[in-house]
Amino acid sequence: MRENFLWGVALSASQAEGGAFLDGKGLVMDDVVSNVHNERYQATSNLDIALGKTYDYYPSHNAIDFYHRYPEDIRLFAELGVKALRTSINWARIYPKGTETEPNEAGLAFYDRVFEECLKYDIEPVVTLNHFNTPLENYYSGGWKNRELIDQFVKYAKTVFTRYKDKVKYWMTINEINMILSLPLVGGLINPSKETNVDQAKYQGAHYQLVASALAIKIGKAINPDFQIGCMMGAGVTYPYSCNPADVWKAYQENEKEYALIDVQVKGRYPHTFKAMLDRKGLDLDITDEDMDILQDNTVDFVGLSYYSSRLVAAEPSNLERAGANLNSTLKNPYLPSNDFGWQTDPVGFRITLNELYSRYQLPLFVVENGYSALEESDNDSIQDEYRIGYLHDHLVQLKEAIADGVDVIGYAPWSGMDIISASSGMIEKRYGLIYVDLDDEGNGSLERVPKKSYYWYQDVIHSNGANL
Ligand code: BG6
Repeated sequence: MRENFLWGVALSASQAEGGAFLDGKGLVMDDVVSNVHNERYQATSNLDIALGKTYDYYPSHNAIDFYHRYPEDIRLFAELGVKALRTSINWARIYPKGTETEPNEAGLAFYDRVFEECLKYDIEPVVTLNHFNTPLENYYSGGWKNRELIDQFVKYAKTVFTRYKDKVKYWMTINEINMILSLPLVGGLINPSKETNVDQAKYQGAHYQLVASALAIKIGKAINPDFQIGCMMGAGVTYPYSCNPADVWKAYQENEKEYALIDVQVKGRYPHTFKAMLDRKGLDLDITDEDMDILQDNTVDFVGLSYYSSRLVAAEPSNLERAGANLNSTLKNPYLPSNDFGWQTDPVGFRITLNELYSRYQLPLFVVENGYSALEESDNDSIQDEYRIGYLHDHLVQLKEAIADGVDVIGYAPWSGMDIISASSGMIEKRYGLIYVDLDDEGNGSLERVPKKSYYWYQDVIHSNGANL
């Protein structure tokens, strides 16, 4: 690995912090959905279901209390040896409804403290501006399909870029920007069950997110030209189910769909297939000449990505078995093993994905999420998570292969530094962490942090700069 490789760990604000009502914070989607009664999955497609209910317990209200425990948590990350902490700012802590003219000072002060704690240990904060945290107030006006959101986002970006210009160098604008195409509510606060034309709403929302991201880059570079500002893709190569050309064409189209938004962030223009896709679907988007100039002039410095697995598609999928995944569900690949939650594992797909991304974009890649979830219980002994070590080991082997292939990778941050609330299930039960957190799905537990076996394994990987795998 290169000498200054950014070995890291990853978290996100609303999955870790808690403090949902503290110090003037506004609400985000996570604060009004709950895993209780297993309605989370429905609620993440139709937020009205969650808004109409009062649940017994909302995991994100306290989450793992990173809000108060960040000094201990960052110390544990420092002892792990990380050079980078990939986290996010909860937008609603800074502008509770999004529309305020003045930011919330208490929210800004919290992230000052977090970033200062990182810098104390020479840990580089790598900060996402919006990790599924658009202020909830915007849901009632249709989410990101409103052009108004661009101004709100730019105002917020300007505030935090100005405030943290000497503390944070690495930024990403929008987490998994392609998420809006598969889960418009999670990615864009757009409720598909309320839309007469879901494609129109989500592609419009995606375009406004792209313009907002580009304008943020413009402002960020003016505030500090040394900022490194990236995009962030939910990545994972899509395979054809067979060598039937109809399956191959389907896989090609799926890959193009996932890359389309990243193409804009890297190259400043939509791919050649985009207009034809809009025409075929009969979509008419509000895309102005001025928007296109903004996109062309303000592209990213690096490509951040999450990778959990590859995906599989077929031209005729109806009778084929499906598997879980972090964006779309996928067909089940008979060559791949699955974890406790039905997500499949494909380290070689990681090498393919990294090569594809690099060959398409020729920009440094930063792996800001990669990890393995499992059901785990601890009686305060360290968890012997050999399966997670196996997953991370196999992916790091393929990452090294990709680097040997010629791919420029600047960092790697497994998801997640410690157990946090899962984005899709809303449960702590779905654990990804290198550090166990004593908390259950009813909110019981001491919140004590106990490093797992994978923590010590990763510590050795970092200390040897990837030599000891
Ligand atoms: C990514 C998200 O899609 O997947 C994270 O950026 C999320 O926020 C991660 O936690 C794992 O997904 P889940 O649903 O298992 O928590």
